[in-house]
Amino acid sequence: MLFKRRKSDFCARLTLPSTVFLSTVLLTVSIYSTLTIVPQRRFSPRSLDAAMYEEAASNLSLANLSRPDSRVSAKSVVNVHATSPDPSESAGRSALSAIIAKFRSRVAFQTRPVVNPHPFDYVHNEPNACAGKTVELMMAVPSRVDSFDLRQTIRETWGQFATDGNKTVMLFFLGSSTNDTIQQKVTEESQKHGDIVQENFTDAYRNLSLKTVALVKWVSLHCPNSTFVLKADDDMYINVPRLMSRLRSQFEKGPLFVIGYLLKEKEPFRTTSHKWYLPVSEYPEKTFPNYVSGTSYAMTTTAAMRLYVESFYVRPLFLEDVYLTGILADKASVPRISESEFFPNKASASGCKFRKLICGHKNSPQEILKIHTELFNSTLKC
Ligand SMILES: *[C@@H]1O[C@H](CO)[C@@H](O)[C@H](O)[C@H]1NC(C)=O
Ligand SMILES: *[C@@H]1O[C@H](CO)[C@@H](O)[C@H](O)[C@H]1NC(C)=O
Ligand SMILES: *[C@@H]1O[C@H](CO)[C@@H](O)[C@H](O)[C@H]1NC(C)=O
Ligand SMILES: *[C@@H]1O[C@H](CO)[C@@H](O)[C@H](O)[C@H]1NC(C)=O
Ligand SMILES: *[C@@H]1O[C@H](CO)[C@@H](O)[C@H](O)[C@H]1NC(C)=O
Ligand SMILES: *[C@@H]1O[C@H](CO)[C@@H](O)[C@H](O)[C@H]1NC(C)=O
Ligand SMILES: *[C@@H]1O[C@H](CO)[C@@H](O)[C@H](O)[C@H]1NC(C)=O
Ligand SMILES: *[C@@H]1O[C@H](CO)[C@@H](O)[C@H](O)[C@H]1NC(C)=O
Repeated sequence: MLFKRRKSDFCARLTLPSTVFLSTVLLTVSIYSTLTIVPQRRFSPRSLDAAMYEEAASNLSLANLSRPDSRVSAKSVVNVHATSPDPSESAGRSALSAIIAKFRSRVAFQTRPVVNPHPFDYVHNEPNACAGKTVELMMAVPSRVDSFDLRQTIRETWGQFATDGNKTVMLFFLGSSTNDTIQQKVTEESQKHGDIVQENFTDAYRNLSLKTVALVKWVSLHCPNSTFVLKADDDMYINVPRLMSRLRSQFEKGPLFVIGYLLKEKEPFRTTSHKWYLPVSEYPEKTFPNYVSGTSYAMTTTAAMRLYVESFYVRPLFLEDVYLTGILADKASVPRISESEFFPNKASASGCKFRKLICGHKNSPQEILKIHTELFNSTLKC
């Protein structure tokens, strides 16, 4: 898919003059590409783009878009714009505009308008969660605004690995609720635990891609020196030590990747009644680029930054995994690594089962607790 599209772009540019000579050259080039370029292309960034992304990403880490203390009261969620603009935020925004302007002047971006500026404000933020620390793994958990119990269970189980000694940080990513009771509870939770990043878009299933962009944006701006980013839904159990060693071994092969349960050449659902129905008008292609299951995936911070920059140019699709790890990763030449230990379904809730898995899905708080206790019980024989 990745290669096919590039090849046709390439052909479209070259087939205009139709001399026999040119056709022969083209054929030769095509055959050459087919035989030799495919594997390398998939696993190494295009050089022009690589330099551009790296530069932009490093500039982005200087452009501090969030307010130093952006705890806005719950009341102002609906229109945060009503509050007076913060000088550091406008400085950040103009730095970002400058970067985008520079992008657009480069060949590859000349014709690409910014269609997804992600202009949301933080209701709660932890801008200093990584500051002054060596962070190897940033664990980001997109969570439903009202999933209080699941978040607490994660804090008490696999979230315990988020310590300075383990070089690990964990944050929950939330949208906002119009229900004041819920919003008030989130504010208390944020004050108590200091691990909530909440933006002012409505927390809804169809807005999941906004949360994913919020996550790569946060990492790009506030944790650019970390090595890895985990994205895990709030009903996942994550075997953190196993994840860490898998990420380290993959990193030895290169610093740019997304890793997870790979889904190949999947077709969009075209039946209107389907939960994941996608009209042709929204996504005309027959198949999705290869992507990894959204239940849980990980990537390098370099990849996260690249995907964040790419997200400016691509309108979000509500299927967040297809959007980030498929479409954006494809356009930004981020390789996707297949690892079936990122189990996308429900595995039996037992520590023995999880000794050989990085994660499993659809677990209740009780199950998460059971898996965790058993997994780290060294006297338990499997
Ligand atoms: C959130 O903030 C953005 C940027 O300030 C604003 O344009 C938007 O209207 C707000 N969204 C909601 C749902 O309040
Ligand atoms: C970013 O925020 C910090 C406070 O957290 C502030 O001192 C700094 O000036 C901001 N940077 C920019 C570029 O606005
Ligand atoms: C990044 O910042 C440097 C130094 O301020 C500047 O020269 C360069 O043009 C910036 N790069 C981009 C892509 O904006
Ligand atoms: C890493 O996290 C585990 C689980 O909470 C903890 O037992 C261990 O002491 C931590 N290690 C360090 C070096 O902080
Ligand atoms: C707000 O949320 C609370 C707690 O979940 C619920 O009891 C209440 O009915 C909700 N209020 C509205 C107006 O939906
Ligand atoms: C989020 O989802 C809600 C409900 O599905 C929708 O009304 C809203 O426009 C979406 N977008 C934002 C930015 O909140
Ligand atoms: C990242 O690391 C560089 C070099 O070690 C350092 O200068 C910079 O301040 C760090 N950035 C953050 C946000 O911690
Ligand atoms: C650990 O497993 C052993 C053997 O199954 C069991 O006897 C013990 O109660 C377990 N410990 C905990 C803390 O669950």
